[in-house]
Amino acid sequence: MDHTPRQMAAPERPDSVAEWLALKDRALAVAAEGVTIADARLPDRPLIYANEGFERMTGYPVAEVMGRNCRFLQGPDTDASAVAEIRSALADCRACVVEILNYRQDRTTFWNRLSITPVRDGSGEVTHFIGIQSDVTARRLAEDALRVSKETLEQDLRLAARVQQALLPPPEFDAGALRVAHAFHPCDDLAGDAVGVVPLTGDRLAIYVLDVSGHGVGASLLSFTLAHLLSPAAGGVLLTEDASAGPVVVPPARVAERLNRQFPMDRTRQYFTLVYGVIDTLSGRFEYVTAGHPAPVVLPREGAPFPVESAGLPVGMLDDATYAESTLTLEPGDRLYFYTDGAVEALDANEAEFGQERLLEAMASVRDRPLRAGLEAIAADVQAWCGGRLRDDVSLLAVERFR
Ligand SMILES: Cc1cc2nc3c(=O)[nH]c(=O)nc-3n(C[C@H](O)[C@H](O)[C@H](O)COP(=O)(O)O)c2cc1C
Repeated sequence: MDHTPRQMAAPERPDSVAEWLALKDRALAVAAEGVTIADARLPDRPLIYANEGFERMTGYPVAEVMGRNCRFLQGPDTDASAVAEIRSALADCRACVVEILNYRQDRTTFWNRLSITPVRDGSGEVTHFIGIQSDVTARRLAEDALRVSKETLEQDLRLAARVQQALLPPPEFDAGALRVAHAFHPCDDLAGDAVGVVPLTGDRLAIYVLDVSGHGVGASLLSFTLAHLLSPAAGGVLLTEDASAGPVVVPPARVAERLNRQFPMDRTRQYFTLVYGVIDTLSGRFEYVTAGHPAPVVLPREGAPFPVESAGLPVGMLDDATYAESTLTLEPGDRLYFYTDGAVEALDANEAEFGQERLLEAMASVRDRPLRAGLEAIAADVQAWCGGRLRDDVSLLAVERFR
């Protein structure tokens, strides 16, 4: 291929002034925008020129508007502040751009993006103003429609968030020798985290904390579904099974395996991490499984907090994942803390994580505070760490054996 630059003829203006003006006229006639010129030196700045674009946009024949001030385009719904803005710009001989509601000759309205610029003569005196009118009605209507649908969506999300909150257990309550509390801090309206406590037969409670991968509506729909499935309202279908001798509690590992079969990632496009366990409210014995979830932390009555064992793949990742149960027993005065990774992964201004060590310190530091107040203090520490800008949900749940 030949890449040598082709000799281009230099652009040429028409020879005569008349031809040149005629070309400008033809160009102005086909322009989609309205172009108007008002005389700045005459009282009330009458129009001395309007192009065909102005006529097409407004419906007013050019001949009819000559000598008139262009305010005839305004009407009852024209915003007075837009008019005032033009008035003050003209008085100061400044350029201005406003979007103003105007009326065509047939009284239908359109949104006019109006740009007015002073034109000066050789001595710098403003002799004229040029106005360029663009019909931006389609864009304004699209913006209005977008705003309305955004407001509707936000309202829907707030409503959905309220429904999600309604599934949470009471903030703090006692059962047998145990006190249970939680603190739930979604980073958006809707959370991908869920926490729950479900009374089971035989003085036992099912406890779970889960965290669906990702954010937004998809994650929260799955967390909502799971919270409902694991709720007492759904009959605890996953938690108890009817044996001939009456309902028995399903071992936690089997619950995790069932969830894993029911919510495979290739169907839901998401996985979730989970701690699920059953605690005896009188003896404090806790049987649990973890599935890709941060390990629960024991805060003994005396001594430093420590994370317990945690193993198992997140739920939904692998078809035939199996889960192994672990057991621990809370002695009087002991506490057990659960959290989602939003707590440890909160970032400060230097992108440093809050981290597990800091979280354990925070748990130790609230040892003497009431259970729920302590959780909120820990959540406040995390919030302070990231300057109130959580990037992930932070959920905390704690169990205390008080006798
Ligand atoms: C060149 C030029 C074009 C104008 N075009 C429009 C227009 O398209 N629509 C409009 O509402 N006002 C337009 N105006 C503004 C009005 O003519 C007028 O200046 C404005 O209403 C403020 O003055 P008033 O308070 O005396 O009405 C234009 C003004 C000038 C100088």
